[in-house]
Amino acid sequence: MDDATLQLIDRAVNDQPQNTVTVLSSLLAVEDAIGYIPTEAVEAVALRMDATVNDVWAVATFYPNFRFDPPTDLRVEVCWGPSCHVMGATAVIAAAQEALGLSDEGDTPDGKATLRYNTCLGACAHAPVMAINHHLAGRITPDGARSRIAEALAFAPAH
Ligand code: FES
Repeated sequence: MDDATLQLIDRAVNDQPQNTVTVLSSLLAVEDAIGYIPTEAVEAVALRMDATVNDVWAVATFYPNFRFDPPTDLRVEVCWGPSCHVMGATAVIAAAQEALGLSDEGDTPDGKATLRYNTCLGACAHAPVMAINHHLAGRITPDGARSRIAEALAFAPAH
């Protein structure tokens, strides 16, 4: 791991602004900073919280949303919250899966993209909503989802 990433981990773990720092808040801070939880971060959190590495792994692996390997370049999120569900999210999810060659959430086999379902992307009035690398697209149709994903994939670097 490079020094810059180690510094980001150190800052995420040790410069948390809130009063109550926990193992979970520390892991979330690392995930926000570098997009995943490497072994070095688990060790840094254990040191900061005066916990064992096993205790920190236990918390990290309890939550299904943490990733333990570096993120892909393209993060596709489709909202399946209530507003989006009513407005056709199921078809958008199916279109996103088809465009990415996936049958569920997860990374594409070529490591270019990740599909995630989200319970609310914060733009319910524009349902159904999807996001590509945090850029929201509202009132998305299945065809719109397919073409946005295809366009984003075309620009994603090969691995
Ligand atoms: S429920 Fe989909 S954006 Fe809120």
